[in-house]
Amino acid sequence: MRVMIVDDDPMVGETLGMFFEHLNFKNITILDRGEKALTEIDRGHFDYIFMDLMMPGIGGLETLKRIHETHQLTNVIIMTGYPTMETVIDAMRSGASDFLVKPFRLQDIKIILERISRLKILMENNWRLNQELEQKQEVEKLNIELQKRIRSQALMYDIVDSLSRINRTEELHRFVINKSIDICQAKKACFLIRDNDNSSSYIMLSQKGLDNGGPGKRISTGMEKIEENINRRLFERCFGLTPDTDHDSKLPNSNYISIPFNIRNEPFGLLLLGEKTGNSGFDADDQFILRFMAERTALNIENMALYDNLMQNLMASMMSLVGAIEAKDIYTRQHSSRVTNYAVEIAKIMGCADDDLHRLRTCGPLHDIGKIGIDDSILNKKTRLTDIEYDKIKTHPLIGVNIVSPLMLDNEELAIIRNHHERWDGRGYPDNLKADETPLLARILIVADSFDAMSSDRAYRKGLPIDKCIEELIQNKGTQFDPDVVDASLSIFREYSDQERISIAI
Ligand SMILES: [Fe+2]
Repeated sequence: MRVMIVDDDPMVGETLGMFFEHLNFKNITILDRGEKALTEIDRGHFDYIFMDLMMPGIGGLETLKRIHETHQLTNVIIMTGYPTMETVIDAMRSGASDFLVKPFRLQDIKIILERISRLKILMENNWRLNQELEQKQEVEKLNIELQKRIRSQALMYDIVDSLSRINRTEELHRFVINKSIDICQAKKACFLIRDNDNSSSYIMLSQKGLDNGGPGKRISTGMEKIEENINRRLFERCFGLTPDTDHDSKLPNSNYISIPFNIRNEPFGLLLLGEKTGNSGFDADDQFILRFMAERTALNIENMALYDNLMQNLMASMMSLVGAIEAKDIYTRQHSSRVTNYAVEIAKIMGCADDDLHRLRTCGPLHDIGKIGIDDSILNKKTRLTDIEYDKIKTHPLIGVNIVSPLMLDNEELAIIRNHHERWDGRGYPDNLKADETPLLARILIVADSFDAMSSDRAYRKGLPIDKCIEELIQNKGTQFDPDVVDASLSIFREYSDQERISIAI
């Protein structure tokens, strides 16, 4: 422990020095001026300074103030023979640890040292607790920040992952609504796209929580260019807000938020969200993750549009091939589209999902596309085919699969083309698949195809009457045809007379 005594009275310095020696202080410095004290303390730390109030030069109070500015851990005890309340308060305010009134006794010094020591312990404990509290608060703050980041990363990953599995436009529109509501815990959401035919209008793609409106609803803003006003108007039209309602979509913590969707920096749509659950409004975190979703979704929408365009062109080319095959024989015209219509109707009765109906509508018309690779003389032969000719005919499903390969169809879709001549008993071609080894959509097309073949006129024979065709289907249940598919198809085929054909648009 180091102690400094500063007093211009040598007697006081000497007496105090003896007291401290008695108290086993080893390092005692005795000075007679405030200036000397300031110089000495800059050379090293002192635990205690006992300082006279009245000294020549810099007085005790001024010296105390300067010491306290740079050495706050040093305990300064002010000594005076004439204490006043004002002096005491002034000294304590300036950083004095205690006050010692002259003349003093050894006991007084001991009491002061003990009091300061206790105070020091209390202050150290207090300081440590404060440090711990601050650290805890800092850790909690970091934890909250970390949780936010983890949630944000998880959401971003989830968005990217979900988008990679979406390949239908309607599904994408539903995803935008459901995911944004999920992210923000909002009650209302509406996804709009700009109307190409009218620059002041938008078309609703999907919504949730709104009283009215659905996909295809046109919403007129009656204005152009000024984005904020358009947002305001759209909130009014879609969410039923009044013009006076406070819904500044630009501000965080508002009850409503709008997220723009851009493709190549060109705005093409808007996502409107409203009524977040709980007291807080939409915040910067919501905005960040929603903008991320908007960017990723916009990329998907653009890719889908390009892909759809490419597929439409490819399909158009394929369909012209089918048209070329059917045009060669007036008796097979429209065969593929009729077969597709029958197949879709049967699939509906069998409870197939919308995706499967879509597969049939896409691939049904292409089921015989491989016939383009078969010689016309065989295809149009009016007499019985030789075995060699029949073998050639049997290659058309595989040729078809090769032709449609650029369409990148899935297995169910490919099977509609590859396996539309399989039989339930396994004696069909090209893979001799048995029973349900042939995928369901192909088994449906087999029945539809056979019914149309039987009921249509051919160059070498008249088409069979519908009743006779139905009889044939029933007789060949479990040998040529899937019994369940035949059962499902009967009600459809019975509806048509010899002259009637399904004319439902594909
Ligand atoms: Fe065929």
